[in-house]
Amino acid sequence: MSVFFSVSMSLDGFVAPESADELMGRQWMELQAWVFPQRFFRANLKLGGGGEEGRDNDILQATFERTGASVMGKRMFDAGEHAWPEDAPFHTPVFVVTHEKRDPWERPGGTTFHFVNDGIEAALDQAREAAGDRDVRIAGGGTTILRYVNAGLVDEFSIALSPVLFGSGIRLFEGVDASKVALKQVRSESSSRVTHLTYSVRAR
Ligand SMILES: NC(=O)c1ccc[n+]([C@@H]2O[C@H](COP(=O)([O-])OP(=O)(O)OC[C@H]3O[C@@H](n4cnc5c(N)ncnc54)[C@H](OP(=O)(O)O)[C@@H]3O)[C@@H](O)[C@H]2O)c1
Repeated sequence: MSVFFSVSMSLDGFVAPESADELMGRQWMELQAWVFPQRFFRANLKLGGGGEEGRDNDILQATFERTGASVMGKRMFDAGEHAWPEDAPFHTPVFVVTHEKRDPWERPGGTTFHFVNDGIEAALDQAREAAGDRDVRIAGGGTTILRYVNAGLVDEFSIALSPVLFGSGIRLFEGVDASKVALKQVRSESSSRVTHLTYSVRAR
């Protein structure tokens, strides 16, 4: 069982625009352009049949299938709460790290959002328990991912490097404690749309 994250990143290192208002704007669409046409993504978000099949599709499906539970920050949850379909696309327990107190929110299709108020380690413990034999995904956003990286709690991560430049926004590794984190490249492969980079993480 491992703890991983998997994100799309602009070539200049950003995973989201600066403000939540721009979230579904041009930059975000360009960043995620490789995801939208994929068969697995379309089926999971109930966007209709059809779609591309190939390595990008296989990678999305494999990432979904290895995930037994997810952890996310409150800003990512807030952005998704209104954008995800009623049948939210996780189909597993999701632990939202937040200061807000709220009862679990169960969606049709197997996703239940649990709101955890006692920090990232408590959220991860609950996610590990819920994930069984499968892995725990730190789903996002950048702030939450970085907290887990700096706490030495991430085993592996994948970046889909998109051919887009943001210039500004939420930088994935802004504030990383580089003195503590060492990486090993596990694999790299590119499709016509994006380059997939996978690293394992260990303490220095
Ligand atoms: N490019 C990609 O593949 C990708 C993937 C996922 C997400 N994203 C994007 O990333 C953006 C959001 O990221 P973000 O970095 O701004 O925010 P975030 O990590 O989603 O959420 C940060 C918030 O989570 C809560 N939180 C985090 N740690 C906590 C702790 N230890 N205790 C209590 N509460 C805690 C706090 O909210 P409260 O104090 O309000 O509770 C904090 O403001 C979204 O726009 C999303 O779309 C991109």
